[in-house]
Parts: sequence; structure tokens; C-alpha cells
Amino acid sequence: MKIGWLEGSHNISFDKANTWFCLGVRGAGKSAFLEHLAELHLEAGNAVLDLFGARSGENLGWLRSKWAKEKRILLLSAENAIVETPTKLSVEVKPYAKISLSDFSNYDIIINSSPLYPNLDSEFEAVNTIISILWQRLKWSRLVFVLCREAANLLYARMKITENQTLAKTFVSYWLREARHTGTSLALDSQRFMAVDVDVRSLIDFLVFKSLGAGGLPRDLHYMYRYINPPWMQRMKPFQFAILSRRGDIGVGTFPLVDWHVKEGEGIVYQLGLKVQFEEAPEKGESRGTFQTLGDREHAQIIALYVNEHLGMKVIAARLSRSSYTVKDHVDKHNAAVEKMGYCPRCRRVKSPLDAVLAQRL
Ligand SMILES: Nc1ncnc2c1ncn2[C@@H]1O[C@H](COP(=O)(O)OP(=O)(O)O)[C@@H](O)[C@H]1O
Ligand SMILES: [Mg+2]
Ligand SMILES: [Zn+2]
Repeated sequence: MKIGWLEGSHNISFDKANTWFCLGVRGAGKSAFLEHLAELHLEAGNAVLDLFGARSGENLGWLRSKWAKEKRILLLSAENAIVETPTKLSVEVKPYAKISLSDFSNYDIIINSSPLYPNLDSEFEAVNTIISILWQRLKWSRLVFVLCREAANLLYARMKITENQTLAKTFVSYWLREARHTGTSLALDSQRFMAVDVDVRSLIDFLVFKSLGAGGLPRDLHYMYRYINPPWMQRMKPFQFAILSRRGDIGVGTFPLVDWHVKEGEGIVYQLGLKVQFEEAPEKGESRGTFQTLGDREHAQIIALYVNEHLGMKVIAARLSRSSYTVKDHVDKHNAAVEKMGYCPRCRRVKSPLDAVLAQRL
């Protein structure tokens, strides 16, 4: 990027922990700016964590960049995702719950991408887990540059835990303030000021403005119009930006579009040849008044007792405090499924080795 300073000047270093906040209307080039910043951090030898992207999987664009050949890339996925990657792509995939601090030294680019999750809930759970792991990083040898596209999502993810907007906001301020102590540079983009309290702004090292549309600058920043003309702020081109440092330096600049930037509607998952499927999660037993329905785990247990331990249905029923009718019903259901489909979905969901075995007493 190139910056011309209009007031003061700032030599930006990419191996110091900084917080970035990029503001602009939809399509202003916010995410593109963060991607360029991420590349500058990689060039400086740091790691990158691309924490959120649009549902379309815009942050999978890394996999078609030159970095995919030079750097070690880790994709995080839902627990129940089965992800096939084409052999020509060198990338590892693992469930988010298995992420550990050593991954931030073992990999250069870690991507948490929406298409690898079956729904928003599981994606938000992953975001929270990843943040809490990073939070434990009290010793590090290089920075992690974290990209959060559409940062309002970060609030929604936190609200999954706290169920309370104020606490979620407090967390975001806290993270912005403390990130540097865990060797993390945070970069958020947003269309609005996220309704985040004004004092959050004082935690931002670099505030980057892209085209702001009709709304223009927040009132307390109107003094910047002494340096930058308002119509330009509203309608600048996607490759242009204005910047305000925490110390008050003001500049305008340009940056290049990374050649792997994903546009909406591109179908990047398909284009990369990624195949993503989701295993059904096991069904849990539910309480229906005095009666407890039988979940997948108990079903598989019945089949295992029947096949492996050769127990009679009455004995199994007594052991599990179920009626022998229920036990027989499940043995029948299991066998009907194996005969019809070649496997029993209940057993498969809990990964029972008997999922394709007929339950017969020998
Ligand atoms: N530096 C740039 N040079 C040229 N075009 C750009 C640049 N940055 C962004 N664009 C264009 O703007 C579009 C929208 O950018 P994007 O970062 O997705 O916007 P936002 O995240 O603000 O919604 C991109 O698809 C690209 O066509
Ligand atoms: Mg964006
Ligand atoms: Zn079964």
C-alpha cells in the first residue's frame, strides 16, 4: 500500500501487534483491504488467522493464492464435517475443537470458513473456541494477524455465550485492548461503527475509511474534513482509503487487490474442488413425561449387547431398565435398516462398528 500523510506521519510496522478497524459501505473494498494487510503480515513472517468470511466462503480464496504453494495452511471445520480436498492442494483439515496453540507455529495460514460448517450456530461455537485458544497464548515467537470480516458477527458469536449484548460488547473491547498481550494483531471490518461504544475507538491503532456512502464520517471525526474533502470520503474508489492513526496522523492511500480475492457468487468451494459433507449428529434420548425416548447411543448399546455379548432381550431390557418390547423393537429397526440400506443410520451416527452388521443371535 501507499500512503500520503496529510497530517503527521506514521511508519507502519507489520511485526508489531496493532489493531485495525476498516469502515465502509458494502462493496467499498473493506475485505480486500484486510486481505492485502494479511499478505503484508505474511511477508513479514507472521501467521494469519482468517476467522470469518461470508457464507460463500470468500476466505477460501487463500487456497488459490501463491501462498498455498509457499505456506502451510490449515482449514478448520465442524466436528461432523467430512472434507475432501483435491490432491494437488496441499492443505490440512481438522475439526475446530482440535485446534491447539502449537497450530499457530505449525501453520502459517489458518482458515475458519463458513462452508465447512452445517449452520451458523456451529460456526459461532467454533469462533468462540478458537478465540479462547488464542487467549491462552502467553508466549509466542511471531504475531498472529487475525481477520474478522463483517465484525458485527463477532458480537453475534459472543452473544451465543453470554446471551447479553452488553457483555458481548465488553468482550470485543476487551479483546481489542488485550490482543497485543497474546501476540495478536486484530483487523476488523464493518459497515457501521458496530454500535460499539466510542471508547472502543481509542483502542484502535489504525482506523481505515473506505467509501462511507451518504452517512459520511461519525460526528466526532468531522475535523478530518479539514484534510479530506467530504464527497471523496463518500465516493472514493475501492482501491483508495483514508487512514487515521491513534496518534492522530491522517493520510490517504491506495492498495492493490490481491489476485485471489473472491467475488460474491463465484462458487469458490466448487471451483477449488472441495467436497464438504456433514454427518448427522447423534440423536439424544428425549424426556416425554414419564417416558424417556431411546437415543442413538442407547440403540447402539442394545445392538452391541445383543451381538457381542449374546445376551437375551429380557436380560438386555433389565440391564438398561427398558421394556423387552423396546429392545425387540430396536433390534428389528436395526435389522430392517441394514437389510434395506446396507447400514443402520442410528448406529452410524454414533460410529458403532456394528452399523452394517445384522443383529442375530447365533
Ligand atoms: N484495491 C482494489 N483495486 C481494485 N478493485 C478493488 C480493490 N479492492 C476492492 N476492489 C473491488 O471491490 C469489490 C468489493 O470488495 P470487498 O472487499 O469484497 O468489499 P466489502 O468487503 O467492503 O464489501 C471487489 O470484488 C473488487 O472488485
Ligand atoms: Mg466484505
Ligand atoms: Zn443400529
